[in-house]
Amino acid sequence: MEKMIIHGGAPLRGTVTLSGSKNAALPIMMASLLTSEPLVLSNVPRLRDVKTAMDLLTQLGVAARWIDDHRVELHAAKVTSHEASYELVKTMRASFVVLGPLLARTGRARVSTPGGCAIGARPVNLHIAGIRALGSKIQFRHGYVEAHAEKLTGGRIWLDSPSVGATENILMAAVTARGRTVIENAAREPEVQDLARVLVKMGAKISGAGTHVIEIEGVERLHGAEHEVIPDRIEAGSMMAAAAITGGDVTITNAPIEHLEAVATKLREAGVTVEANGKGVRIARNNGLKPVELRTLPYPGFPTDLQAQMMAMLTQADGSSVITETIFENRFMHAQELARMGADILMKGPTAVVRGPSKLSGAPVMATDLRASMGLIIAGLAAEHTTELSRIYHLDRGYEALDAKLSSLGARIERAQEQ
Ligand code: UD1
Repeated sequence: MEKMIIHGGAPLRGTVTLSGSKNAALPIMMASLLTSEPLVLSNVPRLRDVKTAMDLLTQLGVAARWIDDHRVELHAAKVTSHEASYELVKTMRASFVVLGPLLARTGRARVSTPGGCAIGARPVNLHIAGIRALGSKIQFRHGYVEAHAEKLTGGRIWLDSPSVGATENILMAAVTARGRTVIENAAREPEVQDLARVLVKMGAKISGAGTHVIEIEGVERLHGAEHEVIPDRIEAGSMMAAAAITGGDVTITNAPIEHLEAVATKLREAGVTVEANGKGVRIARNNGLKPVELRTLPYPGFPTDLQAQMMAMLTQADGSSVITETIFENRFMHAQELARMGADILMKGPTAVVRGPSKLSGAPVMATDLRASMGLIIAGLAAEHTTELSRIYHLDRGYEALDAKLSSLGARIERAQEQ
């Protein structure tokens, strides 16, 4: 296994380009099941989760291949299986969104339930309620959801909370259902919007994506399409926090600033310069960081996927910052690891008080999940001496060539084999 070694202290400077969004790419890849014609996607990040999605689609009979570095062709001429195994779903929860498109295409789907994960219970009740509302029979057997429907029919669905995955699953199930579907309290995330854009290119009739109410008029069949995946706003926010904590000056050439309003607002409150110019979005910091209060919320609120990175940055703010996590119940695992590096973090239920500035010192730390790993790398960039992050397979699930990108900005970071 590999670990990441970070020698702290170098301010990040220069220009960087983001990869395509992981969370947009994964459900879009599953949409390939909805047509017998090829779906060609560009700007697909080379990540472990993308490989897992390719493996899953291959198991279902889809011809899945890389055309070049970041382009994928997915051709589901025939779907030969209707099962997503526990082995796959347990390694990547996002596989669960295969349920909707698989059921829509074949009338059957047997998908393992994901179980808990490092950041919380993460149930799939909303996905199931939605698929049921479209007329599918659902049974839970042997750890699997078994769905069956001769023909799905449109329905009205109100989501208890605006779940990203549930919205995507229901959306993909509804596009070829008979009649009209309305998803109320739908997730508004840019990744949901990107999925809707692809589906529309494939012939679906969807309106309202990006708002709380998505309406879908079922069509008989979908056809092939080409699509470029949006840039990764979470990678963008991570790079922003990294640039800010090191007192650097970084321009992100393709940052989707329209998807980063909440993040830019909090960074500015903390005293960081965030400005869009002709070359991209520039993040710079000359002065000390100021403390901020933030709550994670569904989009367009502050993303939970950037909470760990922001917490790392705020260890260097002069005063007490208050972070409240409202999306996942157990998403503060990085706090203990940050404390081992010298951070002063007080935890109370869903709230963390980060008192700064703390002098961070490099330490061996352990990644618990993807975004927590990035938080620890960000802390390492500002820490004295060397930070050694183990279990970086978490990182490789969601950040493409992170060490190369950070190195190109002047960070001293390298991989090594764990003993
Ligand atoms: C997606 C993202 C993940 C991000 C999360 C929240 C992908 C591949 N992953 O995950 O990176 O952190 O959105 O922005 O896009 N919930 C239920 N019942 C359900 C579904 C969800 O109670 O049926 C709860 C979850 O436990 C969680 C909250 O709703 O507390 C939000 O989850 P959801 O929006 O579904 O996240 P994911 O789609 O799993």
